[in-house]
Amino acid sequence: MSASYDPKLAAALGPAALQAAVDAALAQITDAGDLEALKAARLAHASDRSPLALANREIGTLPPAAKADAGKRVGEARRAVNDALARRQAELEAERDAHVLAEERVDVTLPWPHTPRGARHPLTSLMERIADLFVAMGYEVADGPEVETEWANFDALNMGPDHPARSMQDTFFVDPPEAGLVLRTHTSPVQARTLLERKPPVYVVCPGRVFRTDELDATHTPVFHQVEGLVVDEGITMAHLKGTLDHFAAAMFGAGVVTRLRPSYFPFTEPSAELDLLCFVCRGASVGDASRPCRTCSSEGWIEWGGCGMVNPRVLIACGIDPERYSGFAFGVGVERALMFRHGAKDMRDMVEGDVRFSLPFGLEV
Ligand code: DAH
Repeated sequence: MSASYDPKLAAALGPAALQAAVDAALAQITDAGDLEALKAARLAHASDRSPLALANREIGTLPPAAKADAGKRVGEARRAVNDALARRQAELEAERDAHVLAEERVDVTLPWPHTPRGARHPLTSLMERIADLFVAMGYEVADGPEVETEWANFDALNMGPDHPARSMQDTFFVDPPEAGLVLRTHTSPVQARTLLERKPPVYVVCPGRVFRTDELDATHTPVFHQVEGLVVDEGITMAHLKGTLDHFAAAMFGAGVVTRLRPSYFPFTEPSAELDLLCFVCRGASVGDASRPCRTCSSEGWIEWGGCGMVNPRVLIACGIDPERYSGFAFGVGVERALMFRHGAKDMRDMVEGDVRFSLPFGLEV
């Protein structure tokens, strides 16, 4: 026998001691009523500090002749404990799963809400809000067809057959070509229709859907919305236009948000202007100040919103109105654009996909 053999220590490796350790382990494992208790049993009997692990370490102190025998005994004991642990673990997990299944059962026969949750589209709400604003100023709401005559969409608006602006409008033509029908490219044809139907004084606003041959991407859509305004009365001047637009802008974007008119060209107005809004976020403070960049207006101070001008006398004549007696103003703004910069909607595709998850957060108010 080797000098390093210590019979006292090695007693832990004796068959009786090992059997006692295994019995104690199996008893605790069988008693474990849940996974928590089994975890405690594992810690006590199968961890590094368990009696069997300690016994395993003692094997090294045995003389070579005794090692194999002891190793076999300890290995069997540990295997018995580990097998019992695995079996009990599987049993307890199955019990837990059955319990969870029973507890979280869904009764698919219960009645479901028969009214599906929908939402108004924010573009609709926004157009109604704009219409309300003008109705409060005494305007009427006018509308016209989406399949429009070329005459109303172009000719009446001073865009004759060869007018270059006509080709700039990226028009959807309706078959057959001889029918002279298009999907309206703007809400301006409602100007012509209104003037044919009503005698001045005319104060109308027209929200509606318009169409152009654009590809759908983040900033374009072939179907979009505009709001047109038209006033024809005696003594109407550009000052009325500017005052109306400033009121419109303040009501939509906050007090003090004024408009700016930049000289431009539209065939149906003379003079014509591009209509810009004072940036309602930075109110112009970001211009030339690199320390305060504004994402809403790209630090330009102004946001392009639409076009406007004094109704071209040729339009009045085309609609049978005496331009010597009457004058008028008109404007057209983009509704998608308003939704984009007023509410931070970044991608036009969200507006056309019709996913209720886009519309719901807007609620009924815009
Ligand atoms: N119809 C024009 C467009 O879609 C916008 C517009 C410009 C409307 C000037 C107007 C106006 O009423 O006066 O590009």
